[in-house]
Amino acid sequence: MPKHFQSILDFTPDELKYTLALAGDLKNARRARLTTPHAVTLAGRTVGLLFEKPSLRTRVTFTIGINELGGSVVDIPSDVMHADREPLHDVARNLERWVDAVVIRTFAQARLSIFIESAPALRIVNALSDEEHPCQALADMQTLQERWGSLTGRTLAFVGDGNNVATSLVHAALMLGATVRIATPKAFALPPEVTAAAAKVATGGAELKQYVDPKEAVKGADAVYTDVWTSMGQEVEYAERTKIFSRYQVNEALMARAKPDALFMHCLPAHRGQEVTDEVIESPASVAFDQAENRLHAQKAMLVALFKDRG
Ligand code: CP
Ligand code: NVA
Repeated sequence: MPKHFQSILDFTPDELKYTLALAGDLKNARRARLTTPHAVTLAGRTVGLLFEKPSLRTRVTFTIGINELGGSVVDIPSDVMHADREPLHDVARNLERWVDAVVIRTFAQARLSIFIESAPALRIVNALSDEEHPCQALADMQTLQERWGSLTGRTLAFVGDGNNVATSLVHAALMLGATVRIATPKAFALPPEVTAAAAKVATGGAELKQYVDPKEAVKGADAVYTDVWTSMGQEVEYAERTKIFSRYQVNEALMARAKPDALFMHCLPAHRGQEVTDEVIESPASVAFDQAENRLHAQKAMLVALFKDRG
């Protein structure tokens, strides 16, 4: 298993499947209030949470998850990252002396690489960067497996911005054999390196297909996924993006083009009336809160995988 979790691409398809199976086991055990051997995986370990952007789900689920694996959590205030205080590599080298791992939510993903290069004893987890949100994709895959058993041969449509959530979704879904159709305005398509990587990791004939027209992308899909049009850090573009993305709203008319039993997915937070209507997110098709719940189980499984059999 990999030492760090910066990206879904850190996992092989088999490692991803192993982690998801473990996530299912941990969820069942928690529901039955059973203690598992994993309850001591992080015994004697401390994990730092360093978030440079707001968070509800990621922060709370990591805090609970680390505690349930027997570890201690330390919340590191984001002001320690202010560039004029001390260089990022010194922050990393200090933390390396006290904690075993750091869960980081940040801007450029390159900031995670600085941590990894400067502090080789630390394990680093990407809790969302401008480019990727791999913890979200783990929970999304768990949610779909719960509904469908397997993703092989399924079709997911992602509608909106070709952003961090879309990128990790594409990586994970293609690895598990699902085709992803993504509809974005031309200027907001997935970066070319994401499409190239996706083609390399795809299994079972899965493909990434890019569209501009959301109606085309959604036609006959098994699930429809959307995320905010303006991600954290892009707030100055809010007015312009709201105009550009208005035809990408997931509403009942758009959902009607997908399969009759299609699921609706959203990583949350959602902006009702923008990327999704209230009717759709509150409909029986919506699994948004299952996704949120599964953040806890999937991240616990990922931490067990990272720390398994390591001194
Ligand atoms: N989906 C998600 O990452 O939520 P938070 O931003 O609240 O952590
Ligand atoms: N794309 C969103 C996801 C939030 C969980 C953002 O980066 O703000």
